[in-house]
Amino acid sequence: MDVRILDTADQIAVAAGELFVRQIKTNPQTILGLATGASPVKMYQYLISQYRNGYLDFSKVKTYNLDEYCDLPRDDKNSYYTFMHENLFNHINIKEENVHLPNGNAPDMAAECASYDKMIADIGGVDIQLLGIGTNGHIGFNEPADTFTEGTYKVKLTDSTIKSNSIYFDEGAMPRFAVTMGVGTIMTAKKIVLIATGESKQNAVYAMVRGEVTPHCPASILQQHPDAVIFADRAAAAKLL
Ligand code: GLP
Repeated sequence: MDVRILDTADQIAVAAGELFVRQIKTNPQTILGLATGASPVKMYQYLISQYRNGYLDFSKVKTYNLDEYCDLPRDDKNSYYTFMHENLFNHINIKEENVHLPNGNAPDMAAECASYDKMIADIGGVDIQLLGIGTNGHIGFNEPADTFTEGTYKVKLTDSTIKSNSIYFDEGAMPRFAVTMGVGTIMTAKKIVLIATGESKQNAVYAMVRGEVTPHCPASILQQHPDAVIFADRAAAAKLL
């Protein structure tokens, strides 16, 4: 695990963004694994600025997002589909057919999950996977549990995640279920980049980096990944310092 502690979220956006820039420059057909939440937003803005400067071309890039809510229309203002278009896809030259998110409204969820994993496996896996981290140590929507999850699956969200994410929803509208890449799917990525900022992530970051590898802190599995880079600002890294 390569832990890089920087002063500000803006510095992280550039440093993490540069890893993505380099990857796309090296291989224009890169397969990106993407994440939602507040953590990646500034990095997406950095990628957009590089595109606008004429430095980056997304025309051959393919993306696979980590997760999506269940029982929420795809075009809902809070869907991850909408989030990704508003924060990245609408501002770069990626082709819509190259953009993938799991379908949280699929009639046959088991088939949807299996086909999502198969799609990723068939293209040779994700080259570089972006992650945030939940205050409870979750990655994607892999909540603390007794065992590590494997492939993509439908998950019941924990109370702590519902509490953290319900700030975005009208009262009572926060979905209770989501579909997410499993920890096993995430770990197949060739490179993983995790961004953690702010004091609320202190305990999760400490457990991920210094704690034992346990499904009670799903992010701790990244200790076993051969190429995981963790970017934390001083607030999120406070317990490591
Ligand atoms: C959500 C997402 C995760 C994200 C996490 C942290 O629940 N499913 O992928 O990493 O929350 O979000 P934020 O970056 O807003 O703190």
